Amino acid sequence: MKIAILGAAGRMGKKLCELAPGEGLEVVSKVDIADGYDRTWSPETEGVIDFSHHTAVPPAITTAAAQGLPYVIGTTGLTPDEQKAVDAATAKIPVVQSGNYSLGVNLLLALVRRAASVLGPEYDVEITEMHHRHKKDAPSGTALMLAKSAAAGRGATGEFLYGRRGDIGERPVGEIAIHALRGGSVVGDHTVMFAGELERVELTHKAQDRAAFAAGALKALLWAKGRTPGIYTMQDVLGLK
Ligand SMILES: NC(=O)c1ccc[n+]([C@@H]2O[C@H](COP(=O)([O-])OP(=O)(O)OC[C@H]3O[C@@H](n4cnc5c(N)ncnc54)[C@H](O)[C@@H]3O)[C@@H](O)[C@H]2O)c1
Repeated sequence: MKIAILGAAGRMGKKLCELAPGEGLEVVSKVDIADGYDRTWSPETEGVIDFSHHTAVPPAITTAAAQGLPYVIGTTGLTPDEQKAVDAATAKIPVVQSGNYSLGVNLLLALVRRAASVLGPEYDVEITEMHHRHKKDAPSGTALMLAKSAAAGRGATGEFLYGRRGDIGERPVGEIAIHALRGGSVVGDHTVMFAGELERVELTHKAQDRAAFAAGALKALLWAKGRTPGIYTMQDVLGLK
């Protein structure tokens, strides 16, 4: 399969280009705004993997939809308007969108949902995430997915709290809070804590290498090829749904 990588000059883009041949994929276009990279993908492109910047996603996915190309979105931090462009494209092409393409985090999502369902809202959910100092959006897409899994386990949809400061009063029952830490070269750590009166449960995932995300995204594009148009997640790709 001939593929284009959007954001090819970035940390994830480089890893994707390195690992693609091992998955039987040929990178025919390395698209990036950086010098020396393609500005658009070539006509022979059969699918796109996007790990770029949220502002790049709407024009790129609209083009891919017009050309009928399957699309894998790793890019996080999309605004609601940018997400609308993704949703519109799913009428025409298969799109896999996930804030995290690693096997471990996708297993963690299922574990968090189960824990939230068993422990209930009396166990306060606090989510911490830590990433390298270069990460541009916060909280991480993975932290948001974990929060949604915890809410789903409780049968709630839920607003989330982002950090705390000042005279905030007592913690309301059922609140789900997310805290983002940034520093050094951390690839991606996430902990979901369930804090009860008598005990705490903590579920943690630590990514050690970006290859964990890149390998999953490459598999997702192979999986998406030839599927019915629509929106899919890594849970679909891994058969965890
Ligand atoms: N879903 C996941 O599993 C996962 C894992 C890691 C990172 N991410 C996300 O992937 C994205 C990229 O992460 P990164 O660490 O590689 O970032 P990065 O900053 O190293 O790389 C991003 C690249 O995108 C390029 N870019 C910016 N605007 C562009 C445009 N308009 N067109 C084409 N290229 C453009 C930049 O020049 C840069 O080379 C972020 O949103 C990050 O949160 C997702």
